[in-house]
Amino acid sequence: FGRNARVKNKFQLLEYDFNAADTLKVPGDWNTQKKELLWYEGTLWYARQFEFKKPLNGERVFVKFGAVSLKADVYMNGKKIGRHVGGFTPFEFEVTDIVKDGLNNIVVRANNTREKSGIPTKGFDWWNYGGIIRSVELESRSSNYIASWRADLKKGGDDGVIDVSLKLDKAVADIPVKFSVPELGVGFSGKTSGDGTLAFTVKARELQRWSPESPKLYKVELSAGEDKLTEEIGFRTIETRGGGILLNGEEIFLKGVCIHDEAPGGGRVTTREEVLEDISRAKSLGCNFVRLAHYPHIEMMVKECEKAGLLVWSEIPLYWMIDWNNSATYASAESQLKEMIGRDVRRANVIIWSIANETVPSKKRNEFLKRLAQKARSLDSTRLISMAMEVTYLEDGTYTIKDELNTEVDIIAFNEYFGWYVQPKDIPNALWRIPFDKPVIISEFGGGAVAGRHGGVKDRWSEEMQKDIYEKNVKMFGGIKNLSGTCPWILNDFRSPRRPLAGVQDGYNRKGLFAPDGSEKLAAGVMREYYLREYFKTKRERLDR
Ligand code: GCU
Repeated sequence: FGRNARVKNKFQLLEYDFNAADTLKVPGDWNTQKKELLWYEGTLWYARQFEFKKPLNGERVFVKFGAVSLKADVYMNGKKIGRHVGGFTPFEFEVTDIVKDGLNNIVVRANNTREKSGIPTKGFDWWNYGGIIRSVELESRSSNYIASWRADLKKGGDDGVIDVSLKLDKAVADIPVKFSVPELGVGFSGKTSGDGTLAFTVKARELQRWSPESPKLYKVELSAGEDKLTEEIGFRTIETRGGGILLNGEEIFLKGVCIHDEAPGGGRVTTREEVLEDISRAKSLGCNFVRLAHYPHIEMMVKECEKAGLLVWSEIPLYWMIDWNNSATYASAESQLKEMIGRDVRRANVIIWSIANETVPSKKRNEFLKRLAQKARSLDSTRLISMAMEVTYLEDGTYTIKDELNTEVDIIAFNEYFGWYVQPKDIPNALWRIPFDKPVIISEFGGGAVAGRHGGVKDRWSEEMQKDIYEKNVKMFGGIKNLSGTCPWILNDFRSPRRPLAGVQDGYNRKGLFAPDGSEKLAAGVMREYYLREYFKTKRERLDR
């Protein structure tokens, strides 16, 4: 915007006259703010001036970004302060010695050009929104602040034992630490060791575990030296036993739905109202679980789901044809994985980290994903690891999952589109033989319909056809051993440049159970009836009842 290219000598000096430039709302993608930017893919420069009063007591100053899609270069007061690659995860830079008292300026170069070596790569079925899509904040912190911490309910053993660990930004010993959960009457005091870390346990008497039925959160207080923080967190355990998923030691069936991070009117989600709209739609289906596809959603979505009692599957945008041979690609996958886990590590409702979606098995792909799965487990040994695999059809007429990554995941998840992309003769009686003693989740299924279009079950794009697909798939679920969760694709119709069919798609993927205007399609009723069935009301919500 406002580009005035001035040529000086033989070098072309590009100067941006930001005063003459247009303006954009931040946070917010650029695509839905200016019609000429709907399809724009490339660089856009942001500039903002701000007044600042530097903290006096030796505090440090950081600039934090919720996310910039797909990559960002950040400058402050004419100095480059850093670059970030990854369009859906938070990042920050220290600006203590750059920011000054009085007037400052910050410039951000946002670029959403898709790259073969990227994560995501060039092809994906969602709108490539660009820009500073999430919040930007300046934060002052104690000089040696709490860089990371977590508090988890210990699995097994005595009830109410909470493992706490923290790490300071600087490796300094003997910093006094205080931890308390007033409502539980637990408290702890200690000192950091030489590497600036401290780990301890506390035992709570009457701890109420977090669950979808009672999403209890406790106010936790933590201080280390000058740094003090409070946060609302929940305590629960998640694990698998054979073919079942155990939440707080009891088997649970994940009654899910897939969701993209897209506001009803299009564009990346930025407001609480937009988040609460999707949560109310998911709850109206009887869901206790959401698959936040295909990249980390806005933090507010995860936190509001935690309050609403919705369990979460969170994933990095490692999707379809990834450049498996490229070390920079692996580095980007790993850094986005670290940032995703780092942001939501204390969210009780997040139970699954997923590392891939629909990637074709090969030697290089298997090596890449095995390394990534092991990294995920080393970053967080308390949650379940999964990925959306592909279905294999065997000559004997049965369906199975053939993927070497089955050894690396806790949950076998796969996407199937029986009745839409593939037409088995008899969907309700399709034979599944999945040879792993692990829980199974159907991470995507369904079909398309234009809301309000009606006809017979054979009329493509009619709501009746979509409903028929759902009814047949739901009948089939009863025959899948270890099935522990289902996630219809998808809660809402969503924008995609791969869906141009005029008068039908018009740039939208129409597999939503809800249309962008919120109207519900007939298939939503099928999921609601399924999820509210009697046998889900028992504690052991298994299908084989
Ligand atoms: C795939 C993919 C989704 C896509 C869906 C579809 O399974 O994971 O991102 O939108 O199919 O074709 O609608």
